[in-house]
Amino acid sequence: MTKKLTKALNGEKIFPPPIWLMRQAGRYLPEYREVRKTARDFLSLCYTPELSAEVTLQPIRRFGLDAAIIFSDILVIPDALGQAVTFAEGEGPLLSPIRGLDQIQCLDQDGVDERLTPVYQALQRVKADLSSDIALIGFAGAPWTVATYMVEGGGSKDFSKVKAWAFSAPEEFQRLIDILVDATAAHLISQIKAGADVIQIFDTWAGVLPESEFKRWCVEPVKEIVLRIRENHPKVPVIGFPRGIGIGYKMYERETGVSALSIDSSVPLKWAVEQLQPNCVVQGNLDPVMLIAGGNPMIEAARNIVSTLGEKGFIFNLGHGIIRTTPPDHVAVLVDAVRAS
Ligand code: CP3
Repeated sequence: MTKKLTKALNGEKIFPPPIWLMRQAGRYLPEYREVRKTARDFLSLCYTPELSAEVTLQPIRRFGLDAAIIFSDILVIPDALGQAVTFAEGEGPLLSPIRGLDQIQCLDQDGVDERLTPVYQALQRVKADLSSDIALIGFAGAPWTVATYMVEGGGSKDFSKVKAWAFSAPEEFQRLIDILVDATAAHLISQIKAGADVIQIFDTWAGVLPESEFKRWCVEPVKEIVLRIRENHPKVPVIGFPRGIGIGYKMYERETGVSALSIDSSVPLKWAVEQLQPNCVVQGNLDPVMLIAGGNPMIEAARNIVSTLGEKGFIFNLGHGIIRTTPPDHVAVLVDAVRAS
């Protein structure tokens, strides 16, 4: 095995550590914006294997990162289930909201695999083009995070609709989560079959739930998805990214059985060394705004992360995705700084 990322995920200390960045393909890159113009809309870009493979490879060519993450989105699952999903220019995702059992029953689980075939074709294309030392990452959103968009109808400030539904009618809400567990596990397994070496599960909104609800709606569904992946592909590492859960990271790792934790920028480094690294590989956690700031503050922050977490199984990444206004040159400087550490 020559891939630095998979070695690190198997617990090996790799120094300097492998580096990739969440949302490494996207609008901060001029070459992405050029390709984006040729597609009708964002979802067509995701569903055109030739184009999505191309934008997947752009940050690899430019920065020589250690992993490519397939260009897609967490909201392809609701789209494939038949919910109306659009990405309005400058507004983020818009979905026709699901607010009751009737609408849950309208979701079409049988069409998912066929609708998502272009994602698997894109993975096959990338795999064929990727040098053998670079890992290919497949991904999906965790059921809770995807459900927040499905119920709120898009992004949200307080998540009041989805939380009120989960708190007041848990049996009903469970039906939605169960559908998402099935569709997500199947989608991830298909991505592995198409060539993904590693899986990442994004639970961006895990941090908005109180403890017992967090266990039921974040931990349990992800645990089930990890089990189903392991039944089929026991050797493929799964990275969990439950953003914003503070000391809950420890319990999340223990309960879900993920191979690695992607930690957000608020997690204290020393705490991660003492409490997380004895049991699992850690990925993270530079503040994405440091990448906008650039220069010495960014280099110092990156070095501090590497010197603190780099003694054990560790992967350098951000604490959340790259922001659109990030200067691409700063990414190149960051990669050099991590490689020179
Ligand atoms: O990381 C990568 O380079 C792979 C591609 C990727 C995208 N979205 C492309 C994208 C990945 C891994 C995602 C994950 C994703 N999508 C998450 C979880 C990670 C996170 O950032 O919290 C979430 C919550 C989404 C949902 C989503 N998709 C939102 C809220 C938006 C709009 C806001 C935004 O950042 O633009 C999207 C659109 C989206 N997904 C774009 C890209 C490149 C921009 C769309 C465009 O080009 O017009």
